[in-house]
Amino acid sequence: MPADALDSAADTTADSTADPAADATADPAARLVALAELVAYHNRRYHELDDPEIPDGDFDALVRELRALAEAHPEVEFDNPLTASVGGTPSTMFAPVQHAVPMTSLDNAMSREELEAWGARAAKGLDGAPVTYVCELKIDGLAMSIRYERGKYTQAATRGDGRVGEDVTANVATIADIPKSLPKGAPTVLEVRGEVYMSVASFERLNAAAAAAGAPAFVNPRNSAAGSLRQKDPAMTAQRELSFWSYQLGQVEGAPELPSHTASLEYLGSLGFPINPEVRTFTSLDDVVTHCKYWEEHRHELAYEIDGVVVKVDDVEQRAQLGFTSRAPRWAIAYKFPPEERTTLLRDIQVSIGRTGRATPFAVLEPVFVGGSTVGMATLHNEDQVRVKDVRPGDTVIVRKAGDVIPEVVGPVRAMRPADALEWTFPAVCPACGEPFVRPEGEADTRCVNSACPAQRHAKITYFGSRGAMDIEGLGERTVAQLIGAGLVSDAADIYSLTEEQLLTLDKVGTVSARNLLAAIDGSRTRPLPRLLTALGVRHLGPAASGALAAEFGTLDAVMDAPVEQLAAVSGVGGAIAEAIHDWFGIEHNRAFIEKLRVAGVDFGRPVERAAPDQPQTLAGKAVVVSGTLEGYTREGAVEAVVARGGKSPGSVSAKTFALVVGDSPGASKVTKAEQHNVPIVSGTEAFERLLETGELPA
Ligand code: IVH
Repeated sequence: MPADALDSAADTTADSTADPAADATADPAARLVALAELVAYHNRRYHELDDPEIPDGDFDALVRELRALAEAHPEVEFDNPLTASVGGTPSTMFAPVQHAVPMTSLDNAMSREELEAWGARAAKGLDGAPVTYVCELKIDGLAMSIRYERGKYTQAATRGDGRVGEDVTANVATIADIPKSLPKGAPTVLEVRGEVYMSVASFERLNAAAAAAGAPAFVNPRNSAAGSLRQKDPAMTAQRELSFWSYQLGQVEGAPELPSHTASLEYLGSLGFPINPEVRTFTSLDDVVTHCKYWEEHRHELAYEIDGVVVKVDDVEQRAQLGFTSRAPRWAIAYKFPPEERTTLLRDIQVSIGRTGRATPFAVLEPVFVGGSTVGMATLHNEDQVRVKDVRPGDTVIVRKAGDVIPEVVGPVRAMRPADALEWTFPAVCPACGEPFVRPEGEADTRCVNSACPAQRHAKITYFGSRGAMDIEGLGERTVAQLIGAGLVSDAADIYSLTEEQLLTLDKVGTVSARNLLAAIDGSRTRPLPRLLTALGVRHLGPAASGALAAEFGTLDAVMDAPVEQLAAVSGVGGAIAEAIHDWFGIEHNRAFIEKLRVAGVDFGRPVERAAPDQPQTLAGKAVVVSGTLEGYTREGAVEAVVARGGKSPGSVSAKTFALVVGDSPGASKVTKAEQHNVPIVSGTEAFERLLETGELPA
């Protein structure tokens, strides 16, 4: 990339997308030249090198700016890459192919208004005659023209610059979807145009294989498809799982009359070409808009990537009447979805502390409109992710926001990295409390282990009141920060003793909002147990496991006193959650917090009413610890057998333990502890079953 273009590229990503007019008004001629150079550069990277540096969304923004500026300043002379060609210059690796019928591109509509404006222009061009629109998915792949002569596959060519493409016949021949011969009666000459693409699943398989081989990852399915076709050795292409959808005719000789686009798609289908099933026709533009919006929402439900909807006039005569502009047909338009990837400046990397003390690095971004909303922050997950992505403050980074997925930083645009950008290092101490961070060996997460950390406290209280937990309207992040700042609360239980007078001392809190908040807090006292369990903020314990625990134990006290094995035995809970719960209740100040909630009148649930036990309660009130493998029992099975006889089966031996049952390979520490406390040891399945039956220890 030329140095000056590099400079303006950096400007462009930071400036032009945010405020495109800034440079242009200062010196439109200079801006035009710089933009033209940039567009030409990125065009080449995309079309010829299959190695784009910036996302499509940024490129589209550059093209639109260039087009608008060129139209506003016809007096400025410059080499316009938009009029020179519609794609890239054909490379020299493959032989050139002259297209018998040029492969034009499409104009884009980036909004409903632009789509409607296109519709109005088309209607005007057709003197208001009724129009049938055909809507097709805009497949994010590579345009291909495939030629058949006398029913035999003879040539495949890329679009190239629209007039001359590259001969990729041998490579395209490896794509299973593409027929190599056509049924009897096929036209003498038939050029089929369509999109070669890679499905998301194939792309993921390809990247998994690349990762296993230590090779760099492919950026997206489109680039992988393009790269796969540009292989010198067709055997390499054959290994990639490429697919094809046909959507247009090129040169045709000896075919039946095809009066409409839908007729030509049907005809192509009858010859064995794959036609995308999501083709729809509409007679009103409102319905076209609704259809486009539908796919904007549902694009990720498809097995392949799309970046818009192509709207085409169906009738062939109407198409002829509308004709072409210098670059594209007037009878079609590409409705492009808002880009899901954009570049922006990474201003800083900071660390946030969650309710469990987890320290999560996140990107502070120059706000950018991506995936339908403005994004100013994006998670970087953990220390290793920052290292793997190698993003540095000052970098221009690619930000992705796809569907409902939270925004993420994909990686840096290396060509735009400032010379002084330093590698980021994880802070050694918590920015909120100053205590050293801890990252246990073998774990990905770094933590602040100071339970008095104000950031943790803030996150815990906010979480307690959040929608999925105690659902306390008005107890948002800001209010919690105010309450902590004013010294009114130090944990979530303190909210239950807040008074109206206290709330009125807070900034911007009036009588109405104070009373509403107090009512919401009061209402939360009777939330069902699963919500209360979730609200405690125990690591790993979400609503599903909370629901399962509540159904099994009925009250918070029963959950609190349950041995880890009993917790783990609940379906949907499992070992990691059980350990986390057990550990959490084992901590003194957590117990104190629970007692504060009890005093505050928070509902702790009701005991589960169970049918009369079907086993004699031989072990009622007795604690029997099980260690090692007992023949005929799983670990949970042995615990259940004790519980079914009215006993408890805690995870550790104490002086109160009635017996320690040992199977094969018991825990040495449990045996030692039993010996220390004179706890009787019962050995093997037979003795265990006798204990279950009689409740008595062997002599
Ligand atoms: S029609 C003259 N239909 O989008 C009309 N193009 O931005 C030629 N594309 O070059 C194209 N899906 O690579 C058409 N259903 C579809 C398409 C489609 C994807 C691509 C194609 C084209 C580009 C235009």
